[in-house]
Amino acid sequence: MTATVEVQSSGEPQASGVRFPEGFVWGAATASYQIEGAVNEDGRGPSIWDTFSRTPGRVHRGHTGDVACDHYHRYADDVALMSDLGLGAYRFSVAWSRIQPDGTGPVNTRGLDFYDRLVDELAGKGIDPVITLYHWDLPQTLQDRGGWTNRETAEAFADYAQIVYARLGDRIKTWTTLNEPWCSAYLGYGNGVHAPGIQDPAQALTAVHHLLLGHGLATRALRSAGARTLGITLNPVAVAPLDPANPADLDAARIVDGVGNRIFLDPLFKGAYADDVREIIGRFTDLSHIHDGDEAIINAPIDVLGINYYTPTYVSAKPGQPAALDTPGSEGIAFRKPVGPITDIGWQIEPAALTRLLNRIHDDYGVPMMITENGAAYPEGPSPETGEVEDADRISYLDGHLRACLDSLSHGVDLRGYFAWSLMDNFEWAEGYNKRFGLVHVDYTTQQRLPKRSAKWYSEVIRRNGLE
Ligand code: FCB
Repeated sequence: MTATVEVQSSGEPQASGVRFPEGFVWGAATASYQIEGAVNEDGRGPSIWDTFSRTPGRVHRGHTGDVACDHYHRYADDVALMSDLGLGAYRFSVAWSRIQPDGTGPVNTRGLDFYDRLVDELAGKGIDPVITLYHWDLPQTLQDRGGWTNRETAEAFADYAQIVYARLGDRIKTWTTLNEPWCSAYLGYGNGVHAPGIQDPAQALTAVHHLLLGHGLATRALRSAGARTLGITLNPVAVAPLDPANPADLDAARIVDGVGNRIFLDPLFKGAYADDVREIIGRFTDLSHIHDGDEAIINAPIDVLGINYYTPTYVSAKPGQPAALDTPGSEGIAFRKPVGPITDIGWQIEPAALTRLLNRIHDDYGVPMMITENGAAYPEGPSPETGEVEDADRISYLDGHLRACLDSLSHGVDLRGYFAWSLMDNFEWAEGYNKRFGLVHVDYTTQQRLPKRSAKWYSEVIRRNGLE
């Protein structure tokens, strides 16, 4: 699949008129805990994010997802909004504890009913649902038994996946197992910035393996149940050495790439952890959690790899530097502070790093990809004069990253779609409602939705299947 790029007589690509391949999927993404609210309704059980957000000091100003965007009740209006924007696809996640309040055992049909209604509503508007089975909201009961550090959670995940598939499999084509296991493991059990808030490299590395195992078991089960398009979403670290001519910096990048990327990509696509990564895991654990045959299970064939990308990472060798808690084994490595333009959440903006990342994964793993998240936090609300949300910075972020996608398409990357994060402002995890990533503004006191300038711009991009 290659991009159509109109070329001037000079041979230089034009700044305007770039088109995406025919059939390119245009969507927007959300996640259950970030938008649904209704945490005590229709039999939903508590998740680790309910517990975490209610623990003082964990989330900005004690914000919780109790109400969030109230999407649980407003889903029909939200789908109408998606239709107005012209979205071809919508990526959402299922709250495991709505389906099995305790993570295992009895099925709560009222939870399934909600997603059933949502999927039917989407179908009625011709919007393709792209489902994520796990976007971080682990049932609390499972965490009480060790969460992702317990192998049984991987098995429970595969059971849960089959329950959801049995109900929705007739209407959903694209199934994604996990969203960003890097965050679940390294933020959840490594630096503790996310639920369940644990700081322990051994638990983080054990969680990585069980997340991958859960993915593999669920993929096998869904495939045999008839699922057609299966995938997983990663947030690969777009890591580069600060000084590419310095061998010590190159080695620092190799380590961060190993613990952040290859630890996922190699078992997924090659069926084995690389030796250097296994060595790092072995520094913190006795490796007994990796059973014979696990890597073959994780290696279950998938059809598309979801990529979430926001910001680059630059590393250099710095003797004596303590390890970053979200990157076990990173002793002696400095992570450069963001430089240049940053978004409201402090993330450096560099579209070219997305091109490099996509090209590298294509070159090394040869897998079809989809951007399942990309977007930017900016604080703008409705202007008192016009009532409009003028978010030019977000438009320029999205435009730059879509051009980066086109560059990768020209490189030969099989990139099938793009999902903006996020459809609407929502609960941004530890940042609470303080960071706004939406194309649509949400007034949290009235729950009024207001498409920002960027939403209108994105509609035009979708309509013309390209950029100006
Ligand atoms: C990603 C998450 C998503 C959202 C964005 C900003 O890591 O998958 O839920 O928080 O970051």
